[in-house]
Amino acid sequence: MIVLGLATNRFGAPRVCCQLAPSLTTGGWERGSTSDRERSIRRVTPEDVPFLWDMVYEAAVVDLAYLSRAEVLALPEVRRYVEGWGRPGDAGVVALNASGRKLGAAWYRTFPAESPGYGFVAPDVPEISIGVVAEARGRGAGGALLEALKELALEQGYGRISLSVSRRNPALRLYERHGFSDAGISSPSDSSVTLVAELQ
Ligand SMILES: CC(C)(COP(=O)(O)OP(=O)(O)OC[C@H]1O[C@@H](n2cnc3c(N)ncnc32)[C@H](O)[C@@H]1OP(=O)(O)O)[C@@H](O)C(=O)NCCC(=O)NCCS
Repeated sequence: MIVLGLATNRFGAPRVCCQLAPSLTTGGWERGSTSDRERSIRRVTPEDVPFLWDMVYEAAVVDLAYLSRAEVLALPEVRRYVEGWGRPGDAGVVALNASGRKLGAAWYRTFPAESPGYGFVAPDVPEISIGVVAEARGRGAGGALLEALKELALEQGYGRISLSVSRRNPALRLYERHGFSDAGISSPSDSSVTLVAELQ
């Protein structure tokens, strides 16, 4: 999985940061109803923290299906992606449908070398977490969130972002389509691989 002195607007009032541009709405996104085409993405606000917990659970349970939700969310290696949200550099985006229902979120944090995340590359390379609610998957929200998050990271001065994904997770294809490639850190025998995307 998934930041810099964001200064004043890190937790500003909720605002739409971008309607999904046509280039982000291919592959399922356009095949839905009118309301699908009206989906939007905005920055994460403090009110979204419960939803980030929901989404980090969705991301983590893929590899921890034998645990209950409470057990998954009690794991320090899962909690570190959301706990204490609002520290300098934390940033993310939320996808909404036309009714304002949250469809998914992607966010990032940086970690120190002595306490790295699963997808740690370097202290100045933020690590992504991403999740989309089960009923909205496969319709373009994940790809749109990734593109919006990459844009945000670039705006904040980062050159790269990283994540960790199970080699068996179909999401690997999504990440590769959105510019992520093997960071060369993981052993081929590791069940997960760390990916990195150059931002430009
Ligand atoms: C991964 C995820 C965020 C992608 O969001 P999405 O809205 O489904 O993605 P999009 O519709 O933009 O793109 C479709 C791609 O997402 C991935 N995807 C779709 N459904 C998925 C699912 N149930 N689980 C994992 N990946 C999925 C595939 O790569 C798919 O590409 P494909 O059509 O070539 O198979 C979302 O499916 C999800 O939350 N999955 C479960 C949690 C998870 O695996 N998180 C990532 C942990 S690293």
